[in-house]
Amino acid sequence: MGVEVSVEGLTKSFGSQRIWQDVTLTLPAGEVSALLGPSGTGKSVFLKSLIGLLRPEQGSIVIDGTNILECSSKELYEIRKLFGVLFQDGALFGSMNLFDNVAFPLREHTKKSESEIRKIVMEKMELVGLLGAEDKLPGEISGGMRKRAGLARALVLDPQIILVDEPDSGLDPVRTTYISQTLIDINAEIDATILIVSHNINLARTVPDNIGMLFRRHLVMFGPREVLLTSEEPVVKQFLNGTMIGPIGMSEEKDEAQMAQEQAMVDAGHHAGGVDDVEGIVPQMKATPGMPFRQAVARRQERVRHIMHTLPENAQIAIQESLGADGVGDEWSPGDADTDRMYFEAAGFDTGVAK
Ligand SMILES: Nc1ncnc2c1ncn2[C@@H]1O[C@H](COP(=O)(O)OP(=O)(O)O)[C@@H](O)[C@H]1O
Ligand SMILES: [Mg+2]
Repeated sequence: MGVEVSVEGLTKSFGSQRIWQDVTLTLPAGEVSALLGPSGTGKSVFLKSLIGLLRPEQGSIVIDGTNILECSSKELYEIRKLFGVLFQDGALFGSMNLFDNVAFPLREHTKKSESEIRKIVMEKMELVGLLGAEDKLPGEISGGMRKRAGLARALVLDPQIILVDEPDSGLDPVRTTYISQTLIDINAEIDATILIVSHNINLARTVPDNIGMLFRRHLVMFGPREVLLTSEEPVVKQFLNGTMIGPIGMSEEKDEAQMAQEQAMVDAGHHAGGVDDVEGIVPQMKATPGMPFRQAVARRQERVRHIMHTLPENAQIAIQESLGADGVGDEWSPGDADTDRMYFEAAGFDTGVAK
């Protein structure tokens, strides 16, 4: 199982520009979390801080028992090995074909033989749906395929924590859904802790187990998906519905007067864009049939049961609905797990379950 990442009181500035302050959250081990926020709120800065590429001036980031803001560079080097990162542009080497790009970390950081490397690279290429494209150069393929290749490369060193910066940027809605499915499948397959940074509404509604949102230099909230998806917080609602009405402005943040003026226009019949409120919560994506069952689902249910009484009422209702009458949950039940295991074993994998 992936490792927990615990962030407390984190504050980051560049010179006199405060990016965000007092950010506290825990990425639960092995679960998929998403950090949302309008452009420029410091999502990428947060992601880079987690791997020690940027240095927040206050707070702590504890990974596997080590506070990476206080540890030695040798310790940081070790901690970094736990991470696989997909940067926004995929960050592929343009002159290398996909095979060599994906193989790069293995050749650089391990002493594995070329035949071992081939086995691992092909396995990851298959997981991200790129089998057959090994000989292509990054310039010859679509943006979606480049992201998949970047993802495959992020996976070759068996990371326990996977950070993904805007997997949807530049992709159409259908390609975005495919990459979302791939991220869920990766979580099912390797049970790593995953953090996705995004401003994509569909992805936010369907992929993560936990969701947080950055706005106005603060973490507005972070918790089980049901908390944010049922939130009445104006900035959260505006973001999830993609409308012009709310605290998020075109470039600068709005003041109260401007917000009131806009609301008056809407009351008078002006269309503010975006979609109407979606009733309730859309179900979370499941792993593709044939993948192992996603262990995060059962773990999260157990975890959420414990903190249930601390959550807002709307979130509690949504969670209860998702758990269903039997309290087991519609995304995962022993029946489903058995089916999944059957598929999995039929595909020739060892599920570790005695037959
Ligand atoms: N290395 C850096 N030096 C100075 N300012 C930076 C640096 N990286 C990011 N910023 C600033 O931090 C802010 C947040 O950036 P970013 O994290 O990229 O936002 P997001 O990913 O949410 O769109 C921006 O104003 C950006 O200009
Ligand atoms: Mg960014």
